[in-house]
Amino acid sequence: MENKFILDACCGGRCFWFNKHHPNTLYIDNRIAEKGHRDERPNHCVKPDILMDFRKMDFPDKSFKLVVFDPPHLIGKPNSCRMIKAYGCLNAETWQDDIKRGFNECWRVLEDYGILIFKWNDASKKRAELLRIIGKEPLFGHPNGSKIPTHWFCFMKIPEGNKNGTTNL
Ligand SMILES: C[S@@+](CC[C@H](N)C(=O)[O-])C[C@H]1O[C@@H](n2cnc3c(N)ncnc32)[C@H](O)[C@@H]1O
Repeated sequence: MENKFILDACCGGRCFWFNKHHPNTLYIDNRIAEKGHRDERPNHCVKPDILMDFRKMDFPDKSFKLVVFDPPHLIGKPNSCRMIKAYGCLNAETWQDDIKRGFNECWRVLEDYGILIFKWNDASKKRAELLRIIGKEPLFGHPNGSKIPTHWFCFMKIPEGNKNGTTNL
């Protein structure tokens, strides 16, 4: 854990990483998938540093300076289509609770003034519903009404005492 101050809370195939083995990043996911599990992308694989459920992380509070959270966004059944094979899926009955618990865990393991980057695609569930479930307001991200279905949101864990504009920084 030494020097691991960045957490990817569900790394999948690390597709959006420029350096897929960034030395300061800990990559977790709840599955392993070997090369060849996707016909259309034979080199794609899921090999987290640690197998872990983002809903119940085994890290102390305030362990990371930056957390990136890119959970599955499609409602469906495991392995039911190409996209779900690649990126996983949400359970139709439990997804709200799963995402809320995942977000809360990302928040818990983030240190004060740490940054949480949340990626979402509103193919199955719209961003307004997602933000309502999370119950926190991002600092910035794609504006409402954007035609782009993928949303990136930036949150900062500002301690309660510093939310009125005064700061000790
Ligand atoms: C959208 S993909 C992540 C893609 C990744 N950001 C990339 O760049 O390739 C979502 C990932 O979340 C993982 N996942 C789903 N439920 C999880 C859970 N409860 N805990 C940890 N990872 C989970 C899936 O296995 C999948 O790899």
